[in-house]
This record gives sequence, structure tokens and C-alpha cells, in this order.
Amino acid sequence: MTVLVIGGGGREHAICHTLKKSSKVDKVWCAPGNGGIAQDAECVNLKATDIDGVVAFAKEHKPDLVMVAPDDPLALGMVDALEAAGIRAFGPRKNAAVIEGSKSFAKDLMEKYHIPTAGYAVFENSADAIEYIKENGAPIVVKADGLALGKGVTVAMTEEEAIEAVKDAIDGGAFGGAGARVVIEEFLTGPEVSVLAFVDGKTLKTMPSAQDHKRVYNDDKGPNTGGMGAFSPSRFYTDEIAAECMETIFKPTVAAMEQEGRTFKGVLYFGLMLTPKGPKVIEYNARFGDPETQAVLSRLETDLYDVFNAVIDEKLDEIEIKWADNAACCVCMASGGYPKEYEKGKKITGLDDVTESYVFHAGTKLADGKMLTNGGRVLGVTATAPTLEEAIEKAYADVRKIQFEGAHFRTDIGVKKA
Ligand code: AMP
Ligand code: GLY
Repeated sequence: MTVLVIGGGGREHAICHTLKKSSKVDKVWCAPGNGGIAQDAECVNLKATDIDGVVAFAKEHKPDLVMVAPDDPLALGMVDALEAAGIRAFGPRKNAAVIEGSKSFAKDLMEKYHIPTAGYAVFENSADAIEYIKENGAPIVVKADGLALGKGVTVAMTEEEAIEAVKDAIDGGAFGGAGARVVIEEFLTGPEVSVLAFVDGKTLKTMPSAQDHKRVYNDDKGPNTGGMGAFSPSRFYTDEIAAECMETIFKPTVAAMEQEGRTFKGVLYFGLMLTPKGPKVIEYNARFGDPETQAVLSRLETDLYDVFNAVIDEKLDEIEIKWADNAACCVCMASGGYPKEYEKGKKITGLDDVTESYVFHAGTKLADGKMLTNGGRVLGVTATAPTLEEAIEKAYADVRKIQFEGAHFRTDIGVKKA
């Protein structure tokens, strides 16, 4: 069997690597892929958002399945276009991907179906938004409505900061069309947990929990990034909490999407906050998370190709998905300056010395047999072990063997216990 994976980051490397382990999969293509993905798949020089190009490639090469991983091609309707061309595709259709693509859609859905989330209001006019902020006071959270590469959220500790964020988004066009509408939310507190689930429209099967580290520096300091590391499972996500989330959040969300005529098939990502008043949804993503996927898929024992097919064929209830009873830690190594300006093209050394981990590549490129940096997040060094403490130790032992000019990483992935 052959699979085409769309995307070119650490998450896609984890997906390609896991698919390659399948006894059924003979070949994986990845578009566009990256220098590290090239070790597990044949990279195809097409942008992840090039719907026409991907459909044309799929018609010519006839993969048995196309897996669309990133948010933007999903929001643009790549799965719909592939299906229209008679190609099997994994991922939600455009009308379901909106659960991530529009925060106001997601909030309205949760309100309508009584799914616990932060209180909110939606504005397209900055004067009204500012009045709302003044009425409610800080701390308060301002979110651009559309996809903003994870950078559209301001957790404002003061009213001034919140007002500034509204002005930037609505009047200043900081996020283009994505910020013309803003969601203003009640500020919640509590540990954050990511729970990803396979969904076939009706049946939902959760993956083991994970935690992301969005801030660039240790102790959650500094600006937000695409994610500096992840581990699985979360210490906070007990069986009791999981059972509560299943009844109050997971099943109701899948049923709500079905009810709305937006049947969700693919991976649904629940970004949860375990507040003193119970688990609440912070965000939905219509896809695998990055870097959670690198940690979570490292623990998968069942053939991922079978799971993807069960989702597409709406037979998720018929398969058992097994996970290792262990833990995983993924430490991201980033380019100097990231998440602000950074340089590319730095030579990466030490990859051959890695013994304890698998290195998923997020932003690399192969040139003349040398591996070079080619993005903000460069590598996700990922280890599994019987305990989280051991997994952390193994991942960091390997991180310290890898060098490139300007490399930086957090030294506290998985460490926070409260
Ligand atoms: P999002 O892009 O929606 O995941 O938001 C980015 C980060 O902002 C989250 O991971 C949280 O740390 C924080 N955040 C989002 N919404 C809230 C909220 N209502 N209360 C407190 N923090 C929030
Ligand atoms: N790790 C968060 C995300 O993928 O959006």
C-alpha cells in the first residue's frame, strides 16, 4: 500500500515514520516533507496548501490514501477536493475543519450544546470590544477568530493590554482577515492538557493525553511559539477526569458536529484546561497537534495505517487501538532568535551520535549530503521509557549531542509538576 502525507514539519515526520513501520505500507510520499522526512518518505516538491497540485499528484501516482495533516489545507478543503477526485483522504472536510478555523464557530457550538468552555463574546467592532473589556476587567483573553499560526491569542493581564490586542487585530490588521473578528474570553486557570482523538463521524477513540510547552523559555516565560516540547501522558489527566471529559466534552462535541451537518472525520484535538470548576475546552484543532504527535505516536502499538482506514470507513468501533504502557518526551531544538527572526542554513552535527531517541525533523533540509536548519523549530528529539522521568533523561542526553549554531531549547520539558 502507498500513502501520501501532506505537510512538512515534526508532526508529519512522526506520521511518516509511524506509517513506515506498518507491514502493509510499502511507500510513503510526503509533500513537501523536509530533510529528515526524506529518511522515511519520498519528498514531493508541492506546497501543503497546493490543492490542485496535490490532487494532480494523487491522480498520477494513485496512493491508496492521502493523509492531510496541517490546518490550512484542511480549512481550504483539500479533503473535499481529493474525495471529489475519487481519492481516499484522511482528515475532516472543510465544513468540519471550521471547528478549528473559526474560534467564534467553536464557541457558538459549545454554547449551543452546553460543552464547558470559558465565557465569551464575539466582536467585529473595536469600540464595542473595548467597552466589553472595560466592563469585565482583566485578566481577560483576546483571540483572533481565524487561523493565525498559534499567534492570535493574547492572555491580557491588564485592560490596556487587552485593548491594545483588540486594536491590533481589528483596526491594525495584525492577523489579516483572521483578526477582523475577535473572541474575548473569560480568563481560566489550571493545568493544560491536550487530548487527541480519532473520530470516524460517530465513534471517538482518544489517544493518551499529552502536554505542550508553548512558551519559548523555561518556566513558561517569553513569547508563544509553535511548541517547544511535549510529553505524554499528562500527570494531571487522571482516569476520573478522562471519564468526565468523555461524557461532558468529547462525545457531545462529536454528536454536535453530526447534528450540525458537519460530520467530523479525522483527528480532533481537544485543548483542555483543568479548572477548579472542572475540565473546560480552551481550543479545538481539526488535526494532530505539533509537537504532541511526536510524543503520542511514539507510544502507538497498533498499525497507524489500519487506524486511518478505520476512520475513513467509519469502522473505528471495530478496531482496538493499543498504546504502550510507557511515557514519551519530545524536546524541540530551535534556531537562534526563534520565535522572532532567525537564520536558516546552519549545519547540524551530532545526529549520528543519537542513541536513545528518535529525532523528528521539523525544519531541516538536505544539501550536498549535509543536514541544514531550515525553519524556526528544527528538531524534536523524542524518547520513550517506562517512566516519564527516564524518557526526559534519555531525550536530553541526545539533545546535548546535537549541535548547530544558535541552537536553543528548553531544559524543563516535562518537569513541571504543579
Ligand atoms: P490557543 O491558541 O487557543 O490554544 O491559546 C494559546 C494559549 O493561551 C493556551 O494554550 C492557554 O495557555 C492560553 N489561553 C487560551 N485561552 C485562555 C483562557 N480562556 N484563559 C486562560 N488562558 C488561556
Ligand atoms: N500543539 C498545539 C497545536 O498543535 O496547535
